[in-house]
Amino acid sequence: MENEKSVQGTNDNSILSKCSMIKLGYFDDPLLHHFVIQKKSRRSPLINRGYYVRAKAIQFTLDTFLDTFQQDFQILSLGAGFDSLFFRLARTNKWPHNSIYCEVDFPDLVKRKRCLIVNSCDLMSLLRLKNVKIKNENVVLNSENYKLVGVDLRDTKKLKSVLEISGISMSKPTLVLLECVRTYLDVKSSLKLINWVREEFNTVVLASYEQMYCSDGFGIIMLNHFSSLGSPLLSIHPTSDLDSLKSFYLNLGWENVDITNMSSFYDSLIRDDEKRRVESIEPFDEYEEWHLKCNHYILVCAMKGLSDFNIPHISSNLNINRKQFTWKFCEDSSYTLQRFAHSSVVIDSQLISIGGFGIENGSHKRLNNISVINLAHGSGHYANIRNLDNLGARLYAQTIPLKSKNCIVVIGGRSSPIKPHENVVLLTSDVKNESINVAVVQCANTNPSPRWRHSASLVIIGDIENIVVFGGKSIGNEFLGDCFVLNTNTWTWKRIEENNLSPSPRHSHSSVTWMDNVLITCGLGISSTPLNSIHTLNCNNCTWGAVEVAGLLPRYSHTTHIWQDRLFLVGGVNCHPEGFPGIARISLDSWHCEEFSLPTCIKPVLLHNHSSVLDEENQRIIVLGGGGNCFSFGTHFNREIITIDVAQFC
Ligand SMILES: C[S@@+](CC[C@H](N)C(=O)[O-])C[C@H]1O[C@@H](n2cnc3c(N)ncnc32)[C@H](O)[C@@H]1O
Repeated sequence: MENEKSVQGTNDNSILSKCSMIKLGYFDDPLLHHFVIQKKSRRSPLINRGYYVRAKAIQFTLDTFLDTFQQDFQILSLGAGFDSLFFRLARTNKWPHNSIYCEVDFPDLVKRKRCLIVNSCDLMSLLRLKNVKIKNENVVLNSENYKLVGVDLRDTKKLKSVLEISGISMSKPTLVLLECVRTYLDVKSSLKLINWVREEFNTVVLASYEQMYCSDGFGIIMLNHFSSLGSPLLSIHPTSDLDSLKSFYLNLGWENVDITNMSSFYDSLIRDDEKRRVESIEPFDEYEEWHLKCNHYILVCAMKGLSDFNIPHISSNLNINRKQFTWKFCEDSSYTLQRFAHSSVVIDSQLISIGGFGIENGSHKRLNNISVINLAHGSGHYANIRNLDNLGARLYAQTIPLKSKNCIVVIGGRSSPIKPHENVVLLTSDVKNESINVAVVQCANTNPSPRWRHSASLVIIGDIENIVVFGGKSIGNEFLGDCFVLNTNTWTWKRIEENNLSPSPRHSHSSVTWMDNVLITCGLGISSTPLNSIHTLNCNNCTWGAVEVAGLLPRYSHTTHIWQDRLFLVGGVNCHPEGFPGIARISLDSWHCEEFSLPTCIKPVLLHNHSSVLDEENQRIIVLGGGGNCFSFGTHFNREIITIDVAQFC
C-alpha cells in the first residue's frame, strides 16, 4: 500500500485524542497512557466529546456482547492500532479464563505496539504467558489471553491462516471490532473483508464504527481532510439513509443489522446524569459541529448466528421528498467574508458585519473588526473604529440598525464561552474622522443577564423603536427563556412575563419582526434538542402565542426573513442526517410549510453560524460567512458570499 504510513498515522493521531479526553475525565482508561509516545497534547472540547462518544459506542457494543456471551468467546480487533481495550478488560477481571482477544494491524505498527507492551510491567502483568510458543513472523506477541498479529487486512487468505495459527476458532462466538478502520480500505477490499467475516465465523457480530455521508458540506470537508493527510476514506457509504445501508448489509447475507448514528446513540443510550457530567467537564460552545460530527459517524452491528444485539436501529421516518433550491456564489474576491458567528446588517446599501471568528493577519481568531461591503460595487473594506475596546472581540452578538438615531445597537455576544459581554453598545458613524465610534450605552432598570446565541428584533410601537431580546445562552451552559424589551428612546429595559405559550428556554434560535409581532423560530432547546416550534409575541399587548407548523424540520443556528407574507428559515443544523435543513418557506396566512433541500454541494458550504440579509430590491437573500471548527478536520470558513433568489420559492 503506497500510503500505508499515512494510514498508520491515523492511529497516532487518534491515540493522542483518546489520551486528551481520558486525561480530562471524560472516560476512564488508566492504561492508555502506556501507548502514547508523542508529547501529550490537549484537544479542543469538541474533539474530546467526539472521542468520548466513540469510546462509549465501542464500550456499549462490548458490554452488549459480554452480556450475551459470558464464557468462551473471542474478540478480534481489526486495525486495532494502539487501542488499549484488552488491557482495560483484563485489569477489571472481566476477561474470562478461556477467552482470547486478538488484535490485527499492519506488521510495522504491531511491532511498535509490541515494544510498548513488553516495556511496561503494568501491561505485561495482564498477559498469561505460559505454553504459548508459536513460530510465525506475523504473530508478534502471543499469550494465552492476548495475541498481536501483523497482517494487511486486504489479504484475507493470510489473515485466516495467521489467525488459525494463533488459536482463533471459527466456531466460537466472536465480536469483530472495526473502530475507524473499514473506510481506509478500498471498496473491493472492504467488501471482501466484510464477506470473509460472515463466511468464516459461525456466530459473529461485526461492529464497525465509521464515517458516513460525504455529500453535504461537512462530509466534503471530512473527505478533503483525510485525503490531505494521505489517508483518504476510500469506501465511505455515500448514502445518508441508514435504512438503505441496513439493506446493503442484509443483501450481503448478514442475518440481522442494526445501525445507529452518534446523535441518536448519545441521545438515547447515554444516561441523563452521565450527559450532565460530561457536558460540565469543559466550557463548550460548538453545538453545530458536535451534531454534524455525530450525524456523520455511525455504529454498524451486523450479526450472524444471533438474533438480537439490542442496539436500537434508527431508521428515517422523515420521508421528505424535498425540492432542491438553487443559489449563486459571488466569485468576486473583493466581495468576500470569511468568518462565522458574526452578525450583519444593511444600511444604505452597505453590508456591515461585526465580530465573529475569522482570519486576521493570517491567523484564526475572535474578531473585533467591522467589515463593510458596498452592495452596489462589491468593494469591501474594514471600518476605522474609535474606542475599539468598547466593542471587543464579539461572537454570537445581535445587531440592530436604528433609523431614528442613524446607528447600530449591538447586544450581547461573547469573547470566550466564559466571558460574555455585559454592555449594550452603540455604533455611530463619525463622518469627520471617516470612522465608526463605539460607545457603551447606560441602560436603566434590570438588564438582561449577559448572553449570547440569543435573538433580537426591532419593533416600532407608536414612533418608538424597541428591541425585543429573547433567550440565548449564559455561562454554565444555561439555556435562557426570558424576554426583554429595550426602549431605545429612554434606554430602559422591561421584562415580558412568561406564560404557558411563551417559548421554552433555548439558544441559537432566530427571530424576525412581522407587523407588531416578533416571531421566535426553532432553536436548540434544553438537553441540546433541536426545536421546530414557532412562537409569536404581540408587542402591543405583550402576549405570547404558539403556532403549529406541520412539516417544519427542527433546526437551530439558522437565520430568518419575511418576504411577501412568507417566512423563510435559512439553513441551520439538526440531528437528522436525512433531513438537514435547507430552506423552509412558511406561509404567514395558513402556516403551511414547505421544506427545500440544499443544492448539491460541489464545494463545501456550511449553512450555520452564518448571517444573512434580505435584499428586497433585488429579491434575494444574501448569505454572509458561516462555517465552524469541524471536529478534527480543521476550521472551515465559507469562501464566497451566496445569494438566494427568493422568487424561486413562489
Ligand atoms: C484510525 S486508526 C484506528 C485505530 C484503533 N482501531 C482505534 O480506534 O484506536 C486506523 C487503524 O487501521 C489500521 N489499518 C488500516 N488499513 C489497514 C490494513 N489494510 N491492514 C491492517 N491495518 C489497517 C491502521 O494501521 C490504523 O492503526
